[in-house]
This record gives sequence, C-alpha cells and structure tokens, in this order.
Amino acid sequence: MTGTATSLAASGLLAKIEQRAALISVIGLGHVGLPLAAGFAEAGFPVLGIDTDRAKVEAIDRGESYVSDVSSETLRRLADRAAVGSDGGRPGGRLSAVADYERLEESDVIIVCVPTPLGKTKDPDLSFIVSTAEEIARRMRRGALVVLESTTYPGTTEELILPNLQDLDGRRYEAGTDFFLAYSPERLDPGRKDWTLGNTPKVIGGVTPACVEVGARLYECVVDRVVPVDSPKVAEMVKLLENTFRATNIALVNEFAIMCGRLGIDIWHVIEAAKTKPFGFMPFHPGPGLGGHCIPIDPQYLAWKLKTVNYNARFIQLAAEINFGMPSYVAGKIAHALNEESKPMRGSRILVLGIAYKEDVADLRESPALDLIRLLRGQGADVAYNDPYIPLLRHDDIAMDGVSLTEEELRRSDCVVIVTPHQGYDWRWVVDNSSLVVDTRNATGGLAGPVGRVVKL
Ligand SMILES: NC(=O)c1ccc[n+]([C@@H]2O[C@H](COP(=O)([O-])OP(=O)(O)OC[C@H]3O[C@@H](n4cnc5c(N)ncnc54)[C@H](O)[C@@H]3O)[C@@H](O)[C@H]2O)c1
Repeated sequence: MTGTATSLAASGLLAKIEQRAALISVIGLGHVGLPLAAGFAEAGFPVLGIDTDRAKVEAIDRGESYVSDVSSETLRRLADRAAVGSDGGRPGGRLSAVADYERLEESDVIIVCVPTPLGKTKDPDLSFIVSTAEEIARRMRRGALVVLESTTYPGTTEELILPNLQDLDGRRYEAGTDFFLAYSPERLDPGRKDWTLGNTPKVIGGVTPACVEVGARLYECVVDRVVPVDSPKVAEMVKLLENTFRATNIALVNEFAIMCGRLGIDIWHVIEAAKTKPFGFMPFHPGPGLGGHCIPIDPQYLAWKLKTVNYNARFIQLAAEINFGMPSYVAGKIAHALNEESKPMRGSRILVLGIAYKEDVADLRESPALDLIRLLRGQGADVAYNDPYIPLLRHDDIAMDGVSLTEEELRRSDCVVIVTPHQGYDWRWVVDNSSLVVDTRNATGGLAGPVGRVVKL
C-alpha cells in the first residue's frame, strides 16, 4: 500500500469519521483540550478525555467546568447518553473523562493537547509530549490517527512522535498506511466569543498526503475551513509565526510607550490616530508586560530550536527583553507618581486592580501582575490586590488574599494601579474615589469630565 487516503486503513477511518462513529481521545483536558473535546462531542462523536489530573476528571464527571470556554451546562448535556443532537434526531455525542490511558487501545483518533512549558533554564520542556507519545505507542491500534495540537518548535511531530509510532512490537508501521500522524496548531483566544472553534480556520500538516487528508476530514466535522499545508513542520512554524508576530509587535508598541513617555507624548492618542490609516498599519497596545501560556513562551521554543542550528533569533530576543522589562517600567512610573506627591514607595499602600494576564479570564499564567507585585513589595510597598476572577493568589513565593473593592479601600490606597481591565470595573467610580491612579491599559481613557490624578503608561 502507498501513503494515499485510499489505503484500507484510511478508508476505514474516513468511513467512521463520516458516520461520527470514530472514538476520539483527547489527551490533556486544559484550556485547549476540554473545548476541543466538547466540540467533537457536540458534533456527534463519542469522545474520551484523558488527563493525569484526577481533580479535572472528577470535575468533568460532576459536570463542573473549570475553563471559561465550556459551560458546566454543556458538560452535563454531553455526559448524558440520551442527549439529542442539534438536528433533533441523531443521538448527541458523549463526553467522558478518565485519568489513565487504557482506552487508547480502542481509540480511532488521538489528539494531544498537553502542556509545553519552559524549564527552569528557559529551554523547552517537552517531557509531557514525550511521555504521551510513549503511552500512545504502547496502545495505539492499527489505522488510528494521531494529531498533536500542543504548541512546539518545528520538527517536534516528526522528530519526537513519529519514531515512537513507527516501531511497535518489533514490527515497523508506516505513517500514511498503518497509522496517520499530523500536527494542527490550536489558535483560539480563550474567552473570545467572536472567533470560536467553528469559525477559526484550522491549519493542518500531515507526515504524508494521506495523513493530512484524513486529519482534514476529521476537523471539517467541527471547523468551517481547514487549511492543509505541506508538512507538520510548516504547520508548527505557522503557529510560531503568528505568536512571534504578536510578541514582537507588542514589544514595538511597548517601546513606543517608553519613547513617548520620554518625549511627553500620549501613546494612546498616537495609536488612535495611526489606526485611521486604512492599510499598512495594525494597532497593538502597550501594557504592563506579556502574559498567558502562549505569547511569552512560544517564541522561546523557536529561538531554542534555532540555537541548535547556530542561529540567533534577534527579534525574539529583543522583544522578550522589552516585554519582560515592562513590569519594571511600570514600577518606575508608580515610584515617580508617588514621589510627585512627596510619598516614598516604602510603606505606601498600593492597590493592584486585576491580576489575571488578560481581562475577563481567571488565568494567572505568566501574568505580569506577579512580577509587578514582587517588584513593589521588594521596594517596601504595602501591596493589596483585587480581582473578581482570582480571589486568592497563591503563586510560588506570593500568597495573598484579594481585598474587596470598596470606597474605603480605594481611599486608603496611596496609589491604585490598573493592570487588568476586567469589564466589571467601574472606572469612573474608581477614579473618583482614588487620590492617584496609574493606568497601564488606558482603561480610563474614555472617561468624560475631570478625572483626578491619572498617570498613563
Ligand atoms: N491556552 C491557550 O490559549 C493555548 C492556545 C494555543 C495553544 N496552546 C497550547 O496548547 C497546549 C496546552 O495548553 P493548555 O492551555 O490547554 O494547557 P493546560 O495546562 O490548561 O492543560 C494541559 C492539561 O494537560 C494535562 N496533562 C499534563 N500532562 C499530561 C499527560 N501526560 N497526560 C494527560 N494529560 C496531561 C494537565 O493536567 C492539564 O489539564 C500547550 O502546548 C499550549 O502552548 C494553548
């Protein structure tokens, strides 16, 4: 058999996909895996979620969601065998979760969504992908499709996963004939309602033409448009271009904010006016630093890979330097603003509003608020925070309980720092009850009338 989608294994799998009878296992039920698992179950597939974190498996069993993009109601509905599909007739897909890999043996499709963090030395930590690949190799049935969705450096699918799946039980298995392997990057922006799993085009690259064809047919069941590319490497690089594009443009605008600060120009007015240009410009906004699991980390995967071929990824390095320096720049702004009021940083009460890495989510990963709090505390400030999404802050060396946002709390603070502009905040009220506000997000930019003492980035 050659590696075309007409091989026996491919036609068998394609038929199962067509009939929504393929058992799909999603490994890693986090921000990426759980919405994807729910999406396939909504489309009518039987879906098995696998996560080593028992607490998550138990939460799914109870029908309690822990990610913002999947409601508990959806989980409960998908767990119900008798659920009816949106067409009113076909039985709905069932979603269940387990903490072990035993049922990979029955799976027709295996999608990997495990973490890809940086290690202590800031090098890629691929241990989650490697251990998952080994588990799959121990159990994968002939004819199965394996798709990696975790963000990683170009080459991972073919260098780390493929060799594991080719040699099973002393026999050689051929990709594109005996099994199918592809990479498809997850592109969703958590919490976003306008671009979702269904309407965000899905890029996929397969190890062979048959692999990409089978993979594309699978995703076409849940996504309006699938974009096939030549290889897993291309698909891996697409994701890194997208996220490096964001990281470098954010760094550029952060540096513009610093330059505007030196020259006494309001960066926010500059961006507003620049974005009236109908072509050749795309607005990015400065802020207190980069956060989240993707933008600060993904470019480092690429930079690391390039080091192995003796190339220094200069844009990535410079962007990281500027972006990771922003909390320190903000701390300097706060110190200067307090100084203007004849107050030292030491002993001043500073209230941080919003600690999540972005608005309206409960995600603290890589949040610049953490570095800012450390820096302010290091200079002797009495730091408090409020975040409606994160009532308790327990992270490495920081253990704090959030305070309630009251008039009294605002009035007793020497400085209120806006870090994450959650929609629930009433900026007019915050400004009217605070003696000094440092606004890193231009949250107060739209307020009409007098705004007291507000220092912008
Ligand atoms: N969060 C995002 O917005 C986003 C967007 C695009 C891409 N990604 C990428 O997707 C991948 C997953 O990210 P995430 O945000 O969902 O991470 P997450 O930490 O929210 O979820 C990962 C899950 O995998 C589980 N897990 C870890 N090791 C496992 C193993 N060996 N077997 C089974 N489960 C295991 C963890 O318990 C966790 O529930 C990462 O590579 C990330 O870079 C994330």
